[in-house]
Amino acid sequence: MPTIMSADALEILDSRGNPTLRARVMLDDGSTGIASVPSGASTGEYEAHERRDGDARRYRGRGVREAVRAVAEVIAPALRGADPFAQAAIDAQLIALDGSANKMRLGANALLGVSMAVARAAAAASRRPLYAHLGGAASCRLPMPMMNVINGGAHADNALRFQEFMIVPHGAPGFAEALRYGAETFHALRDLLRRRGLATGVGDEGGFAPEIAGAEEALDLIVEAIGAAGLRAGADVAIALDPAASGFASEAGYVPSADAAPITSDALTAMYRSWIDTYPIVSLEDGLGERDWEGFRRHTALLGDKVQIVGDDIYVTNTRFIARGIAERTTNAALIKLNQIGTVTETVAAVRMCHEAGWHTVISHRSGETEDSFIADFAVAMGSGQIKTGSLCRGERIAKYNRLLEIENELGADAVFTSPFTSCASGSGA
Ligand code: PGA
Ligand code: ZN
Repeated sequence: MPTIMSADALEILDSRGNPTLRARVMLDDGSTGIASVPSGASTGEYEAHERRDGDARRYRGRGVREAVRAVAEVIAPALRGADPFAQAAIDAQLIALDGSANKMRLGANALLGVSMAVARAAAAASRRPLYAHLGGAASCRLPMPMMNVINGGAHADNALRFQEFMIVPHGAPGFAEALRYGAETFHALRDLLRRRGLATGVGDEGGFAPEIAGAEEALDLIVEAIGAAGLRAGADVAIALDPAASGFASEAGYVPSADAAPITSDALTAMYRSWIDTYPIVSLEDGLGERDWEGFRRHTALLGDKVQIVGDDIYVTNTRFIARGIAERTTNAALIKLNQIGTVTETVAAVRMCHEAGWHTVISHRSGETEDSFIADFAVAMGSGQIKTGSLCRGERIAKYNRLLEIENELGADAVFTSPFTSCASGSGA
């Protein structure tokens, strides 16, 4: 069996032009695994620590040279000779090497880069695609994409406080067709914006960032674009939202637009309720803030039988918080981001905990991404059934979609693509 011969890392740039870490793991049989770590902007309070140099003379303090050094000087010597197929043991070793509660000593970016690169190296050594290495031979479910076509909040410079308006082509018969539905709707939306004299420049995740202030205006535009693309709003293409409400939560309440007075969680939930009654919405993520566990419980009790209620900032892919969410019925689904927790094994544990509870999962990119398409394989390996990886432009988003096209093609007749939204959003397992 091959063993790990070396590990190192490089400071590269992410899609926002900020430094991030790329790790490389080499085995003694000549196999190599390379992986790049993404970076969020609207991050959850309890995410694993992304280590930055803090040296104001470089990249406004955002350099990752220390994390790169940790890979070469601390992680590489410790992993030399280890079995790359023992992902859980390697990840346990990484966690022990770091030794802190939130991976602040070596940095979650250093740990995750190596963890993903080990998986890639082992896949290469066994001459299997990454999804089959991570998920086994039975991995054949392509995820339903949630495509973020209008950007606001922390991802754009417009006045829109709600972060993400996504289209979900759940009526498509396969992944490639779903992608086409998405792209054609995206182009129709651009035409529509242009005709109305609205800007067609895009935000961090490739969605348009027009100067509109109201969510209803965004929803109307999307419904119109779906129709203009020759598709049926609802039946062919539905809508998913991630308001990322932590971003407009304050001590006084939620402030969903600049000129609005603060409102309670129940008032905000009532607002979502009216949108759900009007528009073909199938999923609502972070409709409330990450500290609002009580509000979320009522939010899910009221809306959870109509739409999928996804927790992102509140769980940060951490089984400790997800277990609480399951016990308290805080939501009925979770967003999954590898870099929120910091190793592949812990991310797998988070997904499994959700699926065992009958929750759906959505494997997600970050707003700062790279051309690495690890999450495409990961979504198939986990049989998650959903992926959120941005709009229909920007190379770092398209890299994931293109990888999923490859996987669907490779699986051929074995590929499975079904809507997670056909029965009940509160879910009976992914
Ligand atoms: P982030 O946003 O990557 O900036 O945290 C994504 C999300 O909130 O889902
Ligand atoms: Zn989110």
